[in-house]
Amino acid sequence: MKTYEKLLLENKAWAQEKVEDDPEYFKRLSHLQTPEFLWIGCSDSRVPANEITNTQPGEIFVHRNVANLVIHTDVNLLSVLDYAVTHLKVKHVIVCGHYGCGGIKAAMTNHDFKQVLNMWLRNIKDVYRLHRDELANITDEESKFDRLVELNVKEQVQHLAKTSIIQRAWKNEQRPDLHGWVYGLKDGLINPVFEMKAGTHIDPLYEYDDL
Ligand code: CO
Repeated sequence: MKTYEKLLLENKAWAQEKVEDDPEYFKRLSHLQTPEFLWIGCSDSRVPANEITNTQPGEIFVHRNVANLVIHTDVNLLSVLDYAVTHLKVKHVIVCGHYGCGGIKAAMTNHDFKQVLNMWLRNIKDVYRLHRDELANITDEESKFDRLVELNVKEQVQHLAKTSIIQRAWKNEQRPDLHGWVYGLKDGLINPVFEMKAGTHIDPLYEYDDL
């Protein structure tokens, strides 16, 4: 059997098991999607949103990319954000990075990963530059790496707060709260490192006053 054929076979078994446990399972899910959370995570195969939070299909709306970045010109991410916030009306947006992130590690090197990866990793180098003083004081390379993972998550949460999508929802509906988390590949535990409650004021340069 080909490896991908095993996926299809496992899918059949899974669907059957679900229906045996709860005959209305798929009927219910197909009619309604009301997730409370938007998850912006890393594409890394070891950090599946549902599994590590023990949640079910229907509970978390998910967007993943390399190193969980929030880029203000990324139409893909912004579409997901707009749909989740404006239409699904999620109460929480979670940016979840992870220690040992290959994207972060790559951005810390001077290696040429060629386009388009160089373009993407540039955003992480910018985070490094913003926090260069703090990072320069960390001599242990592993600790420096861990800290950049945390600072990156914090920065991406702040990028969310700079969007009119979030600011409009904060103004009109006092939601969603924004969370920056870091997952540990070594122990499976999530470390909450940063939070912005709905309505938090940011640098006035980025605040829209006529939403
Ligand atoms: Co990663």
